[in-house]
Amino acid sequence: MKILFVGDVVGSIGIKMLEETLPGLKRKYRPQVTIVNGENAAGGRGITEKMYKGILQLGVDLITMGNHTWDNRDIYEFIDDEQAKIIRPENFPEGTPGIGYKIVKVNQSRLAIINIQGRVFLNALDDPFRTMDRLLATLSKETSNIFVDFHAEATSEKQAMGWYLDGKVSAMVGTHTHVQTNDARILPQGTAYLTDAGMTGAYDSILGVERSIIIQKFLTQLPVRHEVPEEGRKILSGCFIEIDDKTGKAKRIENIVVNDERPLRE
Ligand code: FE2
Repeated sequence: MKILFVGDVVGSIGIKMLEETLPGLKRKYRPQVTIVNGENAAGGRGITEKMYKGILQLGVDLITMGNHTWDNRDIYEFIDDEQAKIIRPENFPEGTPGIGYKIVKVNQSRLAIINIQGRVFLNALDDPFRTMDRLLATLSKETSNIFVDFHAEATSEKQAMGWYLDGKVSAMVGTHTHVQTNDARILPQGTAYLTDAGMTGAYDSILGVERSIIIQKFLTQLPVRHEVPEEGRKILSGCFIEIDDKTGKAKRIENIVVNDERPLRE
């Protein structure tokens, strides 16, 4: 089973980059499942209904979220739809709208996709490690093909989760820090691992946000309103994963970066 994952799409410029690059990525990698983290789509803050539908129309199977899940109120309108193709971190407090996992059908097999969030330098959510134990107790009975988007800030927490899940899931890919890490590997028990997939949006930016605003923030320590550039050079970051459907073990993980300096070679 082949999975294409695209890291945090930031703003309209990120969606534009996804639109421009996804057809080529699909021709090159031939994924059966395409997953996109969309928690920053609406100018860095959540996702609108129009963007949600637009991203799915590009041929995306499921959208994952993170700490910005509730920043745009539109999401309340569709996150609980029966056919919703969007998940939010599973370890949000009990009673929050939405759900943290979905199972998608891929030919004769199934893939469970899970979204969880870290707690270091982020809100104090339920324990993501024990949340995974709880989820896997039931999901592992349904399929051995399991993909996890761990939305977290600290590299240590992500590595700890990767090792904790080694042999229990097919892949764990980190999101949230917007800078891709160069540590894609398959852990000894067969779990594909990448600390952070990186972001998709404005390339000449600071984590996808207008540079001058962030520099000003560091110079003055005053609160600022983040704005995402609409124009300029773009980057797409993500990864490609191949799983052995029969065992659920990863066979391959490959970083993906597409920008002016590294155009897509099909
Ligand atoms: Fe985030």
